[in-house]
Amino acid sequence: MSSPALLSLLLQITIAAAAAAAETATAYDLLQEYDFPAGLLPQGVTGYELDASTGKFKVYLNGTCSFKAEGYDLKYKSTISGVMSKGKIKNLKGISVKVIFLWFDITEVTRDGDDLNLSVGIASAQFGIDNFEGSPQCGCGFDCVNVEREESVELRINRFVSSSILE
Ligand SMILES: *[C@@H]1O[C@H](CO)[C@@H](O)[C@H](O)[C@H]1NC(C)=O
Ligand SMILES: *[C@@H]1O[C@H](CO)[C@@H](O)[C@H](O)[C@H]1NC(C)=O
Repeated sequence: MSSPALLSLLLQITIAAAAAAAETATAYDLLQEYDFPAGLLPQGVTGYELDASTGKFKVYLNGTCSFKAEGYDLKYKSTISGVMSKGKIKNLKGISVKVIFLWFDITEVTRDGDDLNLSVGIASAQFGIDNFEGSPQCGCGFDCVNVEREESVELRINRFVSSSILE
């Protein structure tokens, strides 16, 4: 094979590989690219759209999803949207958390070192990033093997309540 032909072949392979990589980049990869753990999204994402220039995104799940994480009930709609930049998600829509007996929309997620700040507008709570390793499964969440994990409910609620009082 002459070297121009070889070069052309290599170029074609490179382009094909790059295209394949772009096609298979998932919403979970995208989160990690923006400094977030993949576990912010549950299993069952069917696709996403991202306008890289504005950071506007939409993520589609195969249905609604709810589970418990860190003792909180979380609910995901089948479409999640927001504006993402490195380490920050604003105008988030589609994820809500139950605090005591009320549901609040999580409107902002911020990366702060090894923590994630989840804000519901009036209050925010901080969680270690290691709580979000791997994507939770609808129903049993992060604890699918060890469903019976027990923690003090008051203690967890206090995290949200005390941070709102302090603000
Ligand atoms: C969505 O996908 C997840 C992961 O593949 C699966 O566990 C779940 O049952 C699916 N939900 C629906 C409503 O099909
Ligand atoms: C995260 O929350 C903590 C405690 O509420 C606050 O001190 C910190 O500034 C927040 N970090 C970011 C990046 O918003």
